[in-house]
Amino acid sequence: MATEALSVSNLHAYYGDSHVLYGVSFALEARGVLALLGRNGAGKSTCISSIMGLLPPREGEIKLFGKTISGLAPEQISKLGIGLVPQGRRIFPSLSVRENLAVAAQRQTEGDKPWTLARIYDLFPRMKERQNQLAGSLSGGEQQMLAIGRGLMGNPKVLLLDEPSEGLAPLIVQEVGRTIKRLKDEGQSIILVEQNSQLALEVADQVVILNTGECAFVGTAEEVRANDDLITQNLGIFHAH
Ligand SMILES: Nc1ncnc2c1ncn2[C@@H]1O[C@H](COP(=O)(O)OP(=O)(O)O)[C@@H](O)[C@H]1O
Ligand SMILES: [Mg+2]
Repeated sequence: MATEALSVSNLHAYYGDSHVLYGVSFALEARGVLALLGRNGAGKSTCISSIMGLLPPREGEIKLFGKTISGLAPEQISKLGIGLVPQGRRIFPSLSVRENLAVAAQRQTEGDKPWTLARIYDLFPRMKERQNQLAGSLSGGEQQMLAIGRGLMGNPKVLLLDEPSEGLAPLIVQEVGRTIKRLKDEGQSIILVEQNSQLALEVADQVVILNTGECAFVGTAEEVRANDDLITQNLGIFHAH
């Protein structure tokens, strides 16, 4: 049986009295890419916040390689090996590219091949060219690369990418897709939150579709590719392939 990198069981999340996630359950296989899809407001980012401990689950359990992490503080969860590339990127605009990467470096864990500036520059040659430039002056696509680089500098066992393609031109979205494929080939376990189902279905092995805080579908990318209705019904758009 495949190793579970991250499992979410019966997750209920609230903002105050507002119940937003209703028993969400799924498991990311180690070295796999799981796409978390759903309309705007479906609860994708809330799910990510719960995994990171920023919005602790009111009910349910989250495990990282078998160890319960729900209930721990965000810093502990990050140290145990979950890296977040948040929606909207949140780089430091007035720091240089290199400084943005350097401040995200975490003490090396037991990982065999830790991320270094050199490896990030190898993955994103443009970041090397622009290493002394202020991050705020980068294009949207470059800022997304930098945000992913920052996430990797923490040497995460599981990388969470929240809508990396948001607001990017189609060619740049393709580049983000290639980056995700390359990380997957290197063995990185990834949860990819997307509204761009086409991009997600190109790179994902597993798919979870959220609809108003509930899992409408949990299965393989192949199953979703073979059933356009799943996408039209739950994302409200036609997915051409
Ligand atoms: N900080 C917050 N306080 C109250 N409600 C929120 C907050 N953030 C999100 N919500 C609500 O929770 C629901 C899920 O939002 P979110 O997880 O951001 O969706 P998605 O990421 O799928 O677009 C939405 O109804 C949204 O309005
Ligand atoms: Mg979101």
